Amino acid sequence: MKLLFAFTTAFVCVGNSFVLPSPPGPKFGPKFGPKFGPSPIYSQIRGGSSPVSPTSEPPTPSPTPSRTVSLTNHINYDEVPDLPLVSTTPEWKALEEHAKEIEETHLRDYIMDDERCDAMHVLEDGIMLDYSRQRVTEKTLDLLSDLAEAQLLRSKMTSMYRGAPINFTEKRAVLHTALRSRKDSPLRPVVDGLDVVDEVHSVLEQIKKFTDMVREGEVTGYTGKQLRNIVSVGIGGSYLGPEFLHECLKTEPEGVNAALGYTLRFLSNVDPVDVERTCSELDPEETLIIIVSKTFTTAETMLNARTMRQWLWDFMGNDPEVVSKHVVACASTSATDKVRSFGISDDYFFRFWDWVGGRYSVCSAAGAVPISLVYGFDLFSKVLDGARSMDEHFIQKPLRRNIPMLMGLIGVWNMSFLKYNMRTTLPYAEALLKLPAHIQQLDMESNGKHVTRSGKEVDYLVGEVDFGEPGTNGQHSFFQLLHMGQAVPCDFIGFVKSQNDLVVDGETLSSHDELMTNFFAQPDALANGKTADELRAEGVPEWQIPHRTFHGNRPSMSLLLPKLTAFHVGQLLALYEHRTAVQGFVWDLNSFDQWGVELGKKLALGIKDKLVEGRAGRKIKADNPSTKRLLDYYVNSVNEDEEEGTGRKQPGWGKNGPAGSDFARQPPQPHNLKDRGTKLN
Ligand code: F6P
Repeated sequence: MKLLFAFTTAFVCVGNSFVLPSPPGPKFGPKFGPKFGPSPIYSQIRGGSSPVSPTSEPPTPSPTPSRTVSLTNHINYDEVPDLPLVSTTPEWKALEEHAKEIEETHLRDYIMDDERCDAMHVLEDGIMLDYSRQRVTEKTLDLLSDLAEAQLLRSKMTSMYRGAPINFTEKRAVLHTALRSRKDSPLRPVVDGLDVVDEVHSVLEQIKKFTDMVREGEVTGYTGKQLRNIVSVGIGGSYLGPEFLHECLKTEPEGVNAALGYTLRFLSNVDPVDVERTCSELDPEETLIIIVSKTFTTAETMLNARTMRQWLWDFMGNDPEVVSKHVVACASTSATDKVRSFGISDDYFFRFWDWVGGRYSVCSAAGAVPISLVYGFDLFSKVLDGARSMDEHFIQKPLRRNIPMLMGLIGVWNMSFLKYNMRTTLPYAEALLKLPAHIQQLDMESNGKHVTRSGKEVDYLVGEVDFGEPGTNGQHSFFQLLHMGQAVPCDFIGFVKSQNDLVVDGETLSSHDELMTNFFAQPDALANGKTADELRAEGVPEWQIPHRTFHGNRPSMSLLLPKLTAFHVGQLLALYEHRTAVQGFVWDLNSFDQWGVELGKKLALGIKDKLVEGRAGRKIKADNPSTKRLLDYYVNSVNEDEEEGTGRKQPGWGKNGPAGSDFARQPPQPHNLKDRGTKLN
């Protein structure tokens, strides 16, 4: 068989003991064949892949695709053949034909079908998924199952868990699942000669020790004060996931108590206003700065990091020890030199690895350090437990009981066949307010692609536009469009119990029940709509009828979890990571690189040079007249402002804190206790 990737020498079994026997799983349900039976990966794997070779050549696509690969043969990713464009396959064409049948149907009828509704819900891993309000039938699911099989979904999933270099454009494994492995996990991927599970646990132990010591006051700041303000500096995946977790845990019953006396703020935007907001009212002597950056090169993060370092120095003196006692780093091992040259001590460096993608890094030190500092390591461990539970569910369960797989395949169906190119995440839980933003990056950076793994231009729709807002706020914002404008598939997420329920005197329901009435009502409103006849029967005047008619037939799914505990947050996190992977695997994309953000970064560097010229009073040479006009206007307007003395402030701040902030009026006074040493470069 021709190989897709040229990694064959780099990706071999360890000690001949790497086996992934996946005998045909038990048939699950009449419609789903053995190939989608459970994969006993955790109980049977005893080995791992060898290091991902950084010197390997880029993959060369195989010219002769084979369609005969069986999932039961445990194909490793380096053995996955080049697949034809999925849109040319019989499985895809069958779905296209089937979509025409579905276009003739209405959800209004589907959701009255008792048997169908019964078949279209799953209760697994403590989570209820109801997808009866999706525009799918048993036949749709059969055809999606065939498509998944043709696209070697199980095989790709298994390769991911085993550490194959499936992010081949960056020559990296994709092992976020290993971040929540048990210490004694039988699955032991090996990358760069290291057992990744051992690596993960060694860092987790370091994090536990350090964060316990900070919380117990054994590790203090430069002036001996307890470190209780945490500022996490990072952007993208080094920010969105950790902030999502923080928001969930803020009102989590155990989290509330654990966080007493601590604050956690995130500094992500390079806008100096974000710095000012972050630092406002913080005592630098009690503040620990965490620089979270996998690469330790991201321009925004590094300027913010230097800014925070300056802030510490300005208050406590220009002593390198100020940095070594107040700044920690969470970064990839490949950034070790950069971390050290920033002045961060090795004990304060919490590593992760190139095989953790930024948007998949919440369970690495990127999330573990800030969350454990504020909530304690034990609570963070519960998040890992939840994520692991979902990882096991995902790899083991057959399709019809597999929540991320069902959600991913239905996502493909909605996007590529029913042509809904948007999707919305609607958590009926205020503590999930940052989930939509996290999913935005997770999914749009992963599947916002235009070529397949072998570089073929896709001729089908991939990569939804994701947006969302907690219910019921969203209802009073963009739901008008969801009900009457463009149809957008919706994910409703709700909880049986609230983190903090209230019963107000005289009310017939608790406040959580009140919230949940919307969770149950909205999907029906979207599915059923409201017909002209129904409106007439209600006595609506004829002239208003067109304006008040809802066509309905708008798909949604409902996820119902027990309660937003740390464990269930972990499950949700992993669930959405896996949904994204499923879609990318079926679309045959590399969901783990992000070249699309590179161009803008490079251009910004070019503009920086031009601005430096402009600020020095020299003529700006831009690449095109449009950019030149904008730059000239920007630079010249500032100069005019300065000439008139209308308040352009000098950048930076002096000893009294950020210019114009309230800090000058706040204690504490800046210190320069020892007046020894010099600033680091
Ligand atoms: O925006 C691009 C990106 O590379 C993301 O994928 C990543 O999460 C973010 O930048 C931050 O990168 P880093 O953690 O290396 O600073």
